[in-house]
Amino acid sequence: MDTQIFRMTPEEIDAQAIKSCAEIIKSGGLVAIPTETVYGLGADATDADAAAKIYAAKGRPSDNPLIIHIAAPEDAERYAHTSPLYYKLAKAFMPGPLTVILPKKDIIPSGVTGGLDTVAVRCPSHKVAHALIEASCVAIAAPSANLSGSPSPTSAEHVIADMNGRIDAIIDGGQCEIGLESTIVKLEGETAIMLRPGAITADALGCVCEKVEIAAAVTELLGENERPLSPGMKYKHYAPAAPLVLLEGEDDAVADFLVAAQSRENCAILGYSEEMPLLNNKNIIDVGARDDLATQAQTLFSALRETNSMSVDVIYAHLPTQNGLGLALYNRLIRAAAHTIKHID
Ligand code: TXA
Ligand code: MG
Repeated sequence: MDTQIFRMTPEEIDAQAIKSCAEIIKSGGLVAIPTETVYGLGADATDADAAAKIYAAKGRPSDNPLIIHIAAPEDAERYAHTSPLYYKLAKAFMPGPLTVILPKKDIIPSGVTGGLDTVAVRCPSHKVAHALIEASCVAIAAPSANLSGSPSPTSAEHVIADMNGRIDAIIDGGQCEIGLESTIVKLEGETAIMLRPGAITADALGCVCEKVEIAAAVTELLGENERPLSPGMKYKHYAPAAPLVLLEGEDDAVADFLVAAQSRENCAILGYSEEMPLLNNKNIIDVGARDDLATQAQTLFSALRETNSMSVDVIYAHLPTQNGLGLALYNRLIRAAAHTIKHID
């Protein structure tokens, strides 16, 4: 299949290209779209056949449900049963990087929700995504636009690498601002249960909800027979080609370890900007300053992709804190590392 590529910026939306892409969505095709978190692989959320094409293009297990993207919070009414807490969260965080799990209505086929009777709803703030949803006149179901198991795409180049020839069109809207997928919450009474951490932090949710709980699968490795609240949490994710080891310890001790590792083994290092002058520049990636979690979030997935083109035996990265945006970094990295943590004394 020939994949058409359209280029635009949020400041200068190409109305003609949006119209063409909306026609593709309406006729059951697939369009990759930029969002403020990561690129999504979009299709008509009410069309079971179109959703099936998403699973095929990604190689995604069919029990892993999709997020549906809407143009305005109240559009959720058409697809799901909302609640006062949904609207409180919407008022605080939508449009933006928050996904809320709600009981679904019949208009959403079970092929979109992996057979669940709930649906994940998100209203993205990215102007290009917003324009396409509006022009399509329907919610757009979109998982991250990567091949299943590889890091989520944060640039059109990543999408092209994974999806060229497999989908109808890609909208190149530049680099994604946040770089990690949305925060996902499930609502129980006045409690929000965080199923996946993202840029909307637990503290931020706590300003709106009476109680915030963090699902065990966010930080822990689930046992063989345990079922996560979010099906996606059971799959190995973002696995780079070489094994990834996360380092935990005092800053100086970890820096010393990295310097020694470079002379001892064939390794790649995802290091802080502060460490770059200490290291020789073979196979090192600057992920941002130690305290700059926003930059680390923006660079993580492209850094993991970059390591795939380095022939190394092992990759080292820092174990992030679990505070604020750190929890989202922690969650993605421990899964990329299959929970391999090395303590440095
Ligand atoms: O930022 C994002 O959320 C991006 C952009 C494109 O919007 N999308 C994204 O989708 O990350 P995806 O499919 O890669 O991840 C969706 C996650 C999966 O872990 C899935 O299991 C979970 O959401 N999910 C979807 N529907 C669910 C439901 N009804 N109940 C529980 N978890 C659900
Ligand atoms: Mg994904």
